[in-house]
Amino acid sequence: MYNNGKVHPAAEAVRKRLQAAEIPGDGPEIGIVLGTGLGSLADALEDALYIPYAEIPGYPVSTVHSHAGRLCLGRYRGRNLVLQDGRCHLYEGYAPADVVMGVRLMHSLGVESLVVTNAAGSLNPLFPAGSLMLLSDQINLTGQSPLVGLPDEPGRTRFPDMSRVFDSRLRELAMRKALQLKLRLETGVYLGLAGPQLETRAETRMFRAWGADAVGMSTVLEVIAARHLGLRVLGLAALCNQNLPDDMAETSLEEIVAVAGQAAQKLRLLLDEIIPDI
Ligand code: HPA
Repeated sequence: MYNNGKVHPAAEAVRKRLQAAEIPGDGPEIGIVLGTGLGSLADALEDALYIPYAEIPGYPVSTVHSHAGRLCLGRYRGRNLVLQDGRCHLYEGYAPADVVMGVRLMHSLGVESLVVTNAAGSLNPLFPAGSLMLLSDQINLTGQSPLVGLPDEPGRTRFPDMSRVFDSRLRELAMRKALQLKLRLETGVYLGLAGPQLETRAETRMFRAWGADAVGMSTVLEVIAARHLGLRVLGLAALCNQNLPDDMAETSLEEIVAVAGQAAQKLRLLLDEIIPDI
């Protein structure tokens, strides 16, 4: 449940590696959780330090093949970044505290702004597969919270406000950059589930009626943990299939990952422009 006992030793181990690598700068300022297909950003870092999760004490190692599993630190477009390349999910059997360990670790390293990215299914008939969506809000339907069981710490609320989870300045920045790039960027509500099964028609009909535009199996717990820590959060989804109740095509993970790769290339273009101005 409560995992902060693990976060401090993990952060210490990462700091030692940073010192040993003599990487210039003041440590990371921006954290990015890379979703399916977005690993290319990790390879573009300058003065980079790559630490496999297995080398970070207490860090959960993802069992999903499409998720590499390393923390990447370095400079990109003039900013110090830490990238979480690979995340673990509830459907792998991890506890919520493990799912959000990367976010807590990045916060502990000094990050103040967090970009969460993911591959999601579109529930909105106007948002085609291959397009990008800026998260305006989220619905946590995992039935879990990373904050359950946390001790009541002085100076940190146990009941964080969730009325505006995504930072308005960062959202405006993303919209402006998308416009400059002539990239279509939809705006909508992301609904997060535990999975791993995909949704039934009845479920997608219900989610749509509830106001969701996209559905996926990640992100929502990370965003809750980030808001609890006071991080500014920007959320971006690569929509890789249309998941429509009245016209539902069969979907496989292979298809989702292939389209995620294409949408991720667009997401990379957008991130390249957003990062310098975060
Ligand atoms: N449903 C749930 N998760 C997903 C989907 C979907 O349709 N597409 C990508 N991740």
